[in-house]
Amino acid sequence: KRPVRIGLAGLGTVGSGLVAIVARNADWIERRLGRPIVLTKVLVRDLAKPRAVALPPDVGLTADPDALVTDPDIDIVVELMGGTGAAYDLIRRALLAGKHVVTANKALLAERGPELFALAAEKGLGLYYEASCAGAIPIVATLKESLAGNRIVSIIGILNGTANYILSSMSDKGLTFAAALRQAQEKGYAEADPTLDIEGIDAAHKLILLIRLAYGQNLPLAKLPVAGITKVTTEDIRFAGEFGYTIKLIGQVHEVEGRLSAGVSPMLVHKDYLLASVNGAFNAVRVEGDASGPIILHGKGAGDLPTGSAVLGDIMALAREGMIPNNTGFLVEPLPEASQPDPED
Ligand code: NDP
Ligand code: HSE
Repeated sequence: KRPVRIGLAGLGTVGSGLVAIVARNADWIERRLGRPIVLTKVLVRDLAKPRAVALPPDVGLTADPDALVTDPDIDIVVELMGGTGAAYDLIRRALLAGKHVVTANKALLAERGPELFALAAEKGLGLYYEASCAGAIPIVATLKESLAGNRIVSIIGILNGTANYILSSMSDKGLTFAAALRQAQEKGYAEADPTLDIEGIDAAHKLILLIRLAYGQNLPLAKLPVAGITKVTTEDIRFAGEFGYTIKLIGQVHEVEGRLSAGVSPMLVHKDYLLASVNGAFNAVRVEGDASGPIILHGKGAGDLPTGSAVLGDIMALAREGMIPNNTGFLVEPLPEASQPDPED
């Protein structure tokens, strides 16, 4: 059978993770799919930069996005560059050129997802994004497929690995905020602009994607109350501990009588509660469906292999489905726009 041909955009933390898994598990992947996954071209910014992974000898490294978009042999463009400029142009052009897209880019999908999903639907192509929310944790598939028939009562989660790594390191290892952030960056957990992590914006981007999946609403970032962890001090963490609590950056949404209440902020979490023991760059998401009851997913929320695993899962899903995409997961008829509950209600 013809291989599944990938054009990869981005060879940083996640791109390198994907390349490593595809090389490491090549035989297994081929047995499961009945055909191999083959990397054809890789787009980067700086052709001279040393790379964390070796590319197979016949893979072309390029700095020209056209090389991916115009190559008739490429079936799936995998966007792992980040940002909302060049990544938007590439995904749009890839879809217009008839290529499926897999991305980990929550910032772009939170901002311009509806337009890109509409284009993918119009073209009959897949736009898959499991890796964009909570790293290795299959929360997109859970909402899109497993819980599709439930009314979602609430989603509560630790959705940013960097922030959780910083808070855990301040609490358990006595690190300063700055030292913990530096470590998170060295380990590849942080965004290229780490402000997104520490100001809660990355968690908010993910929450916007989860709200779209669970409730069919496109909540703009400006409407979401968002607070990060930059004001959390070691003293705060110590005091919280004395009262039996830990401080976590929590993203949450609840449906209350048909209206959504949502936001991201640091919160006191009682040590008896499961989310309190989620440490390091791990994430956890508690979803409650009206029929399923509560479900908790816990796993690595950032990093090369965990995120590469989610990207590869999307590539294999597209291949397994015979490249007939299942983009569902948002409602055909969106619910009325969400509003914050009136405090006087
Ligand atoms: P990195 O900064 O490590 O890597 C980005 C890669 O994209 C680099 O190889 C860079 O090239 C390339 N790139 C960036 N801009 C351009 C451009 N304009 N043209 C061509 N190439 C470009 O990012 P990450 O791997 O950490 O993240 C990638 C995406 O995955 C982001 O959307 C991020 O939010 C998301 N993500 C990241 C996770 C993580 O743990 N890091 C987890 C989940 C999602 P060069 O190397 O030449 O500079
Ligand atoms: N910067 C993100 C985080 C990467 O720390 O969670 C995973 O989305």
